[in-house]
Amino acid sequence: MEQYVIKGGNPLVGEVEIGGSKNAALPILAAALMTDETVYIENMPDVFDTNVLLKAIESIGVIVKRTGRHSVMINAGNINSVIITDENIKKIRAAYYPTGAMLGKYKEAQVPLPGGCDIGCRAIDQHIKGFKALGADVVIEHGLIKTKAERLVGTHIYMDCVSVGATINVMMAAALAEGTTIIENAAKEPHVVDLANFLNSMGANIKGAGTDVIRIKGVVKLPGTEYTIIPDQIEAGTFMFAAAVTKGDVTVKNVIPKHLESITAKLMEIGCEIEESDDCMRVVASKRLKPTHVKTLPYPGFPTDMQPQIAVALAMAQGTSIVTESIFENRFKYVDELTKMGANIKVEGNTAIITGVSHYTNANIQAPDLRAGAALVTAALTADGFSVVDEIRFIERGYEDFHLKLQNLGAQIERVSSEKEIQKFKLRIG
Ligand code: UD1
Repeated sequence: MEQYVIKGGNPLVGEVEIGGSKNAALPILAAALMTDETVYIENMPDVFDTNVLLKAIESIGVIVKRTGRHSVMINAGNINSVIITDENIKKIRAAYYPTGAMLGKYKEAQVPLPGGCDIGCRAIDQHIKGFKALGADVVIEHGLIKTKAERLVGTHIYMDCVSVGATINVMMAAALAEGTTIIENAAKEPHVVDLANFLNSMGANIKGAGTDVIRIKGVVKLPGTEYTIIPDQIEAGTFMFAAAVTKGDVTVKNVIPKHLESITAKLMEIGCEIEESDDCMRVVASKRLKPTHVKTLPYPGFPTDMQPQIAVALAMAQGTSIVTESIFENRFKYVDELTKMGANIKVEGNTAIITGVSHYTNANIQAPDLRAGAALVTAALTADGFSVVDEIRFIERGYEDFHLKLQNLGAQIERVSSEKEIQKFKLRIG
């Protein structure tokens, strides 16, 4: 089983190139099913989740050609089934995206229920509500979401909660429905906008993405397109907080600063200096961090996917901080692991009360999920001595070459798969 072995203590210094957004890539790959023509996608991250989704669509006859590590050509002109039975797709949250895409195009889809990180109840009632409102029948049987419609007809849909997944799924189905669909209380995340831009580049008629009302005028057919995925704001935010935690000086390159506003605001509040240019952001942390309060919210609020990363920073700040998780109820599972490293955190319901400690101590820890795993790595990077991080498969679901990018910033980290390799690393690093 793969692990990271880390010798902490080095501040991260240098530049890091941010890849394409995982959470934009996933719906865009699914939406490539909505045309019979060829779609060319650039800046696709090479991570577990995107690779699983590509394999799953290949399993129903979609032609997928990797034209480079971050480029893919997709042609769904000759699929042989609207039923995806690929086992791996159950492991990822984005399993539900081919449902909206195929329902839109073929008026039928059968796809395994989504998995993903165990960070709380991840209901899909709003997806189902949206599909039904468009005229589809939806049943859940034998672990599959089965949906079918004679025709899809545009309508008014009010989302009872702000859901990225439901907004995206309904947007895909509605893009090929008859008439106009209005989604109210829509999610505004950059990846929702990126999918709308992708669909519009194929001739869809979607307006308002990025606001809480999205208007989709259905079209009969979508042609192919060429499209470049936006940078990953959570990968960028993770490296920015890693700079804060290690008292480093890191420039994240190829980012959209607007997408990082809530993250940079918090970094400044806790005492980091930020320099912004067109597509770069530099974070310098030279002093002990200051405490703050933060509550996760839908975009443009502070992202739940950055909650563990900010908590790791605040657990080393001088004073008491409060972190409130308002999106997922089970997103403090990393606290026990961080406590092993000396953190002083008390969780009450959806709130963590964090009393800063001066430093972390090394420990053997486990990544409980994708983002918390990355956050724990940043803690280990600042702890004295050697730490081993287990279950890094979670981290690799969403971070491409995480350890290599950290090495380039001066971190002493290695990806290992045996005790012997850990010992070799320890001997080499000393
Ligand atoms: C997406 C992201 C995930 C991020 C999350 C919130 C992907 C693949 N994953 O997940 O990284 O943490 O957005 O920004 O893009 N809900 C319902 N009913 C529904 C749908 C959602 O009650 O039908 C609730 C969820 O339980 C949760 C909240 O709404 O409490 C937000 O979920 P949602 O925005 O849908 O998250 P995901 O799309 O699963």
